[in-house]
Amino acid sequence: MINVGLLGAGRIAGVHATAITRHPDSALIAVSDYIPANAKKLAADFGCAARTTNDIIADPKIDAVLIATSTDTHSDLIEKSVAAGKSILCEKPVDLSLKRARLCQSNVEYAALPIMIGFNRRFDPNFKALKSALDNGEIGKPELLSITSFDPAPPPLAYVKVSGGLFRDMMIHDFDMANFIMRDFPLTIFAHASSIIEPHIGAAGDVDTAVVTLSYADGRIAVIKNSRRAVYGYDQRIELLGSEGMLQAQNMLENTVVKSNTSGVIGAKPKHFFLERYMPAYAAEWNAFVTSVNEGKEVPVSLSDGVTALAMAEAATLSAQSNYPVALKDV
Ligand SMILES: NC(=O)c1ccc[n+]([C@@H]2O[C@H](COP(=O)([O-])OP(=O)(O)OC[C@H]3O[C@@H](n4cnc5c(N)ncnc54)[C@H](O)[C@@H]3O)[C@@H](O)[C@H]2O)c1
Repeated sequence: MINVGLLGAGRIAGVHATAITRHPDSALIAVSDYIPANAKKLAADFGCAARTTNDIIADPKIDAVLIATSTDTHSDLIEKSVAAGKSILCEKPVDLSLKRARLCQSNVEYAALPIMIGFNRRFDPNFKALKSALDNGEIGKPELLSITSFDPAPPPLAYVKVSGGLFRDMMIHDFDMANFIMRDFPLTIFAHASSIIEPHIGAAGDVDTAVVTLSYADGRIAVIKNSRRAVYGYDQRIELLGSEGMLQAQNMLENTVVKSNTSGVIGAKPKHFFLERYMPAYAAEWNAFVTSVNEGKEVPVSLSDGVTALAMAEAATLSAQSNYPVALKDV
């Protein structure tokens, strides 16, 4: 049994608390939050203790921490938790600053226990099936990848201000997905981005609409499209063209009913947002972490994967500002 401390009691922490408490090999011992009332509420909901972050990290009876705090705390908490001998699952991104994330990576090189980054989409059953079909050689060599990722509605201004921007906060998932599928890193990243949905997003210096092209050394190409608004729901699709065919992962819908009448043929909308769409992925992610801890196996998403995706976000940010492609090695 793995005894777990959950750091942070916000939106995503509730999802993780569910996965930890439902897993037969993990127990949620305590939760902390900068705002004590948040920790108390989540602790009451899941029947664990509300404690301080430092107290949880210092507790020798706690084997692993799940870091679900605000992004700007991740590097510090990874370093402190490694020093205390904990196994770690940390939410994406590793940090808002690439420099700080790289420093964190070098500071914890000595870590003997697992450090995994929460790129949950790798564990989505549909995307996982697409990847397995690719790995089985069912479409030959992958040549052109297209990832669509649209949120249902833009976030509030308060969120935009601390998010690190669309590339670090949102598209970072798609950068990691491209690395996962293409099994290589791009040489260059070319971003086109604008703010056309919400004036407050542009006023805060961020973008809400973006297309990014990743170019690989062997000529392959990946295209990622992000928007902060799709009025019909959370649009999450992947299309991969290979030398011997194509793989597509479509949206998961709210239900499978299709109504056909004289007005037309109408189906349900995509599941509303990430909490609805990716619940099975978060559970599978936690299961993969528990397996790595219990069996001493390498984690499926490493700290290095997290830092690389952040470097790609940095390159995309610079490219969108300059209107030139940016080489990944230059960031
Ligand atoms: N993988 C995903 O699909 C996914 C989805 C949402 C959020 N996230 C990531 O999870 C993290 C949290 O996001 P959220 O939406 O839950 O944010 P949130 O603001 O709802 O929650 C963050 C919580 O952390 C607390 N906190 C801040 N510093 C702390 C500290 N030092 N110790 C303890 N608590 C602290 C805040 O008070 C807040 O309650 C972010 O890094 C975000 O990028 C990932």
